[in-house]
Amino acid sequence: MASSASKPVRTAVFPVAGLGTRFLPATKAMAKEMLTVVDKPLIQYAVEEAAAAGIERFIFVTGRGKQAIEDHFDLAYELQATLKARGKEAAIAEATDFLPPPGAIAYVRQREALGLGHAVWCARRLVGDEPFAVLSPDDLVLSATPCLKQLADAQAGLGGNLVAVMDVPRDQTNRYGVLDTPDPESRTPRVEGLVEKPAPEAAPSTLSIIGRYILTPEVFAELDRHERGAGGEIQLTDAMAKLIGRQPFHGLRFEGERFDCGTKDGWLAANIAFSLARSDRREAAAEIVRRAAAGLSGDAEGRGDS
Ligand code: UTP
Repeated sequence: MASSASKPVRTAVFPVAGLGTRFLPATKAMAKEMLTVVDKPLIQYAVEEAAAAGIERFIFVTGRGKQAIEDHFDLAYELQATLKARGKEAAIAEATDFLPPPGAIAYVRQREALGLGHAVWCARRLVGDEPFAVLSPDDLVLSATPCLKQLADAQAGLGGNLVAVMDVPRDQTNRYGVLDTPDPESRTPRVEGLVEKPAPEAAPSTLSIIGRYILTPEVFAELDRHERGAGGEIQLTDAMAKLIGRQPFHGLRFEGERFDCGTKDGWLAANIAFSLARSDRREAAAEIVRRAAAGLSGDAEGRGDS
């Protein structure tokens, strides 16, 4: 029988039960994952990225106040009937083309936001004994090849566990899970250790994990322990770290630019970058950016700044 590590990745977990406190007040009554970049909610980008990587089973770990996510992936009969009566076929396509086939999405609730590791653990029965992907929808990657596809292709050769990584400024290591690796310059650095949110002086490198993972199901046995880590949360990084040495474990320096849309600055930057990258939005977006920049330099001149 093939080992679990050699099976193709066909299941993805989308943790969407977080509180999104860094984006208040927007997230008071609305799911952070429904924030839009240009004209699409973050969760739709994540689902489309997963589908482009061959994912067939989509597991959402959701929570109270997140119903809009389920509605977004359902039919909206009233809207469709109205659009049909008005002959707006293109608009109907916009609202439905992205839907995975019926039965492909499953929902499970995380009753308390105890951390990313706990959210992933809540999906254990639905994932079963297979390698699976995890996508944090608030991490958005602009790239020619979808980020999860890059990961799936690399994992097919390497096997085991693979996490998307990027270099961050050393003074920001305390926001990420950080790799301890003997070959940090490699495209696929071998992972010898993982530290969640290390202080800059304690960080073993500056190679940091973003919200794209391919993991083996053995991680669930580690998550079963419900050990609390940084910030008192059940951390996925801590459970993953226990697999090192038992299974292949690598990072992947993905190609593309990542935006942390869970923060106001990251979300704004993503809106600009994704607008400029879209042929139907580029011209208008460039004009808006030019005008804003001219306004800024006008302010500086007005104040006598150089
Ligand atoms: P974050 O680390 O950004 O946490 O979660 P958060 O609670 O959403 O946001 P802040 O820090 O309060 O601003 C990354 C992803 O993991 C999910 C979130 O919904 C987000 O998609 N998550 C996080 C859960 O599903 N459950 C949790 O307990 C924590």
